[in-house]
Formats: sequence, C-alpha cells, structure tokens
Amino acid sequence: MKQQWILNEITAPLLYWYQGAARDLPWRRDPTPYHVWISEIMLQQTRVEAVKGYYERFLDAFPTVDALAAADDDRLNKVWQGLGYYSRARNLKKAAVTLVRDFGGALPADHSALLSLPGIGAYTAGAIGSIAFGLPTPAVDGNVLRVVTRLCADDSDIMKQTTKDDVTAALAAVYPQTPEEAAMMTQALMELGATVCVPNGTPHCSECPLAHLCQAHAAQTEMQYPNKPPKKGRTVTDKTVFLLRCGDRYAIRRRPMTGLLSGLWEFPSVDAVLDEADAAAYLREQGVVPETLARTPDAKHIFTHIEWHMRGYVVSVRDEHPSYVWADAEEIRQIYSIPSAFKAFLARL
Ligand code: ADE
Repeated sequence: MKQQWILNEITAPLLYWYQGAARDLPWRRDPTPYHVWISEIMLQQTRVEAVKGYYERFLDAFPTVDALAAADDDRLNKVWQGLGYYSRARNLKKAAVTLVRDFGGALPADHSALLSLPGIGAYTAGAIGSIAFGLPTPAVDGNVLRVVTRLCADDSDIMKQTTKDDVTAALAAVYPQTPEEAAMMTQALMELGATVCVPNGTPHCSECPLAHLCQAHAAQTEMQYPNKPPKKGRTVTDKTVFLLRCGDRYAIRRRPMTGLLSGLWEFPSVDAVLDEADAAAYLREQGVVPETLARTPDAKHIFTHIEWHMRGYVVSVRDEHPSYVWADAEEIRQIYSIPSAFKAFLARL
C-alpha cells in the first residue's frame, strides 16, 4: 500500500462518525459470534434489506450452532430459499458440524481457526474475529476496497488477491487494539462504503468523515476507483420449462446432488427452446401424453456465470407419470425448495 500515511489518520474520525451514523440492523443488536457468522454469510451476496427477514427466520429455525449442526438438509434449503447461492447454506451446516465435533459447539476466537472452517474465507474470518471477539482483524469486502482505494487514489485491480492482501495488511496496521473499537472499526468501514462511499452513482462526499484525507476527492476522481476490470460474459442456457398439471397437482423433480442448485427441486425442463410441436413431441418421448399445452410468458434468471433464458408451457396431462413427484400448489410452496430461478413459473401455479 503506497499511502499508509493516509490510513494512519482514519481511525479516530471514522469511529466518531460511526457512533452517530450506524444503522440499526438486526445483527448489530446482539452480536454473538453465531449471529455475526450467520449475518456475514448472508450479507456476502445479498443486500442488507433482503437479508433482514431471512436473518430473523433463520435464527428462529436454527437458534444455535447445535441446532444448525443437526439441521435436516431439506429444511435448511427451505429456510434459505430465495437467498440464492445455496452452497452458503451447505457450508454453514458443514461448519456447524465441525464446531460441535472439534470446538465444543462454539466459534473459535482465533483467526486461523475461523479460516479453517468451510465457507469462511479471509473476509468472514476478519468480520467474525473483530465484530464478535474484538480481534484487530480487518474484514475486506467490496465496500472496504472501494473506500480504501478512493482514499489512497490507488488504481490497483481490486479483483486481484494481492490487492486484497495489501489492503488487509495496511488496515491491520491501523486497527484499534481495544476489542470494542476493533469491532466498531470493521463495521464503520463497511457502513461508510454502504451509505456514503457508495458503489453506484456519485458518493456522498459532503457527508464523509474522511473527505479531508481522501486523495480521490481532492482530485475529483472518486468515480475512477475502484479499478475493477469488466467481468467475462455469462454463458446463456436456453430452457423449456414444463408445468405438467394433472388435476390440481404438478410434476416436480429433484435436481442432481452436484452442480448448480444441487439437491433442490424444480419443474421438469430441457436445455433447448422448443416450439409447441417440438415441446409436445419431446414430452411424448419422455412418456408424458400432453392433452393441452399453453405458453407462459418467457422468463430469465441470472446467476454469477450463467443466464437461463426460459420458455414455459402449462401442460395438462391425464396420468401422474411415475418419474416425477406430484404435489399441489400449496405443498410445492410450503414443503419443497424451488429456487428463485423458477419464480415466474411458481407464480403461475
Ligand atoms: N455488509 C456486510 N457485512 C455487513 C454488516 N455487518 N453490516 C452491514 N452491511 C454489511
């Protein structure tokens, strides 16, 4: 980090600002290690507003590490349904099992031990360590990288691990050494990134407690940072999704236990765009005899590296083909975890 002298000055104004500016968020009210862990995992890929409800529901369902370690996988998926990136939920349970087996059922107050747990990388270990245990361990996520690279007018590529490591080391050197202040420092950096030094659009520099130190602000080049090279394009997969309906029941099936959305439930589909005639022919090949077939509006779902472009058909059938599970709309909503990718079709049941 070329501009350590700037970071040396941020701690006092940042902590002072945070005490007046902190949002009242559910996970800040009782920041036990378990609560901080669950919230940070949820917040990794999901917006604060969306996480709030899920966080409360998750803790109602799995209030302790022990409860999470003993969680039924389908119930866990159901509670996670809508948050996406289901591997996060699987890793939470795996880590909980490890905590019960090797750590007496509690999260360890140690950075390396935290890092050894499934789903916990440098960011999450830093966040749990500092917020829950008061360790002087920075948690460097996209918000914090933006704040620091603007402060230092640093054009390093923030997608590179070396940049993240440099920023982590530079912040570690200025972390306060009291537990209360170390906890506050992590949250203050995140809060500044989320509410003032914002990612989309012009940052609110007139409200920033660090504006007097900020090199990008001095040069009016805030929008040039962070330097984040454009992502590679996503692969597009075309799909035809079938709402096979027999009376008031619909066909669903479980996805394979590995790969995208593994182990979750879905409507039958095929990776191709089929017109009505081809769709009917395809179904017959599968042993399903369509009586009527009606197009639904097309739908699109965007994952990190993949896009699904989906065409849908509601298909009436006379018999419940045995290769599917058949369930009515209420059962599908209440019992089975159908990922948000199929939301447009779920809404048509
Ligand atoms: N984003 C990631 N972690 C957060 C936290 N603890 N509070 C608010 N936003 C966050």
